[in-house]
Amino acid sequence: MGRPRENFGCADCGATTAKWQGQCPSCGAWNTLEPVRSVTPSSKARSSTRTTGPRRLADVGEEQVGRIATGLAELDHALGGGLVPGSVVLIGGDPGIGKSTLLIQAAARLGSSGPVLYASGEESLQQISLRARRLGLDQERVLALATTSVETVIEEALRCRPECLVIDSIQTMASDQLPSVPGSPNQLRSCAGLLVKLAKEQGPAVILVGHVTKEGQIAGPRLLEHMVDAVLYFEHEAGSRYRILRAVKNRFGAANEIGIFVMTEAGVREVRNPSAMFTGARDACVPGSVVTATHQGSRPLLVEVQALTDDSAGSPLRRVTVGVDQGRLSVLLAALNRHAGVATHGNDVFINVVGGVRISETAADLAVLVAVVSSLRNRSMPPTAVIFGEVGLAGEIRPVPFGEERLREAARVGFTHAIVPRRNLPRQPVAGLAVSGVATLAEALASLESLPS
Ligand code: TYD
Ligand code: MG
Repeated sequence: MGRPRENFGCADCGATTAKWQGQCPSCGAWNTLEPVRSVTPSSKARSSTRTTGPRRLADVGEEQVGRIATGLAELDHALGGGLVPGSVVLIGGDPGIGKSTLLIQAAARLGSSGPVLYASGEESLQQISLRARRLGLDQERVLALATTSVETVIEEALRCRPECLVIDSIQTMASDQLPSVPGSPNQLRSCAGLLVKLAKEQGPAVILVGHVTKEGQIAGPRLLEHMVDAVLYFEHEAGSRYRILRAVKNRFGAANEIGIFVMTEAGVREVRNPSAMFTGARDACVPGSVVTATHQGSRPLLVEVQALTDDSAGSPLRRVTVGVDQGRLSVLLAALNRHAGVATHGNDVFINVVGGVRISETAADLAVLVAVVSSLRNRSMPPTAVIFGEVGLAGEIRPVPFGEERLREAARVGFTHAIVPRRNLPRQPVAGLAVSGVATLAEALASLESLPS
């Protein structure tokens, strides 16, 4: 037991095979397979992971997923309501985006039932302490450890039994048992595997920080994403102070949940009223700007969609989007031409969702097209109107889920008019909001005329 077993792993994607081959069977890369020694757990270790035997699901209580609040409400929200003891969370993001800052702030607020162990392979103890002091954080319950050895981290975690263990970053950690360098797929897999085992057996919540590579993925992301319980990406729009923490996987909550922060001199600060923030900072309304009500994870969020149309002057047409799908835009523009008689054949069309928000639902379709029409006609929309709805290929406006939640959010933030799919008309009036229901694209464009200017 515990005897090393020969295997081959791809240096690109991390897939393993039992036999050496010239080409990786998983990602197709050539000459990337290298021998790996995987260490199988001893029989003792395995028996300790054994559960108590099957139980009737009905008898399993909710107490099993008690959550630990991190003290940062937006982080808790993105996590689906706080950290789950014994779970492993991967937080990925570009270098310098603020992962370490976010986590040292969370670490200082955690620790109600035990210390927080903050293991850093990137910064010295002095640097960590300096940052915590500069941010005015309570350092009492944070135990810091500067090491790149995963075995050292585990040893210390077994000794001090933290409530939460932060690893900053997983790419700097290495296992003494492997010859490969830190950050290689073999090291990532082994270190993450050992930390997952620690979380499951000893119960601390483990947070792994992972740097995103140029291609937009955490180095070795596939294998890490499979191994952990939740994956959150910390993102921002170039030059913006806003930071969005997006859950792309969560075994204990909704995927697509987002938490919104702003980077300040005093660390990351959570944004309590993101809808107001994303729509309130607009200057006097300009042509091409439309506010839509999206639904991200479990809550509605108002965002501004901007369109810019410009004469393409005979060059190949450009369709560029930030925050919405580019292919979807082409489909929408075709529907706009065919069913509402608004042509964009001679125009470049650029779409941007303000604040770095990404909309992956079709509910933004109608707002995108209204923004395009507003830019084409050089006519601005009233600042108090919100628009949402899916546009079908036949030019019909289709209903979207969570219609009433979206409308209530719009009213809460102070919007007074809404154009929505007819089948999303609320059963009860929404106080302060005049809602028009539309069934076709042509009807939607006509209804713009009835909005107050
Ligand atoms: P950091 O948390 O070190 O990023 P990561 O761990 O993701 O690499 O954040 C570094 C950036 O954040 C750096 O450019 C400085 C900035 N920053 C602030 O703006 N305010 C602060 O209070 C702190 C600590 C950092
Ligand atoms: Mg860092």
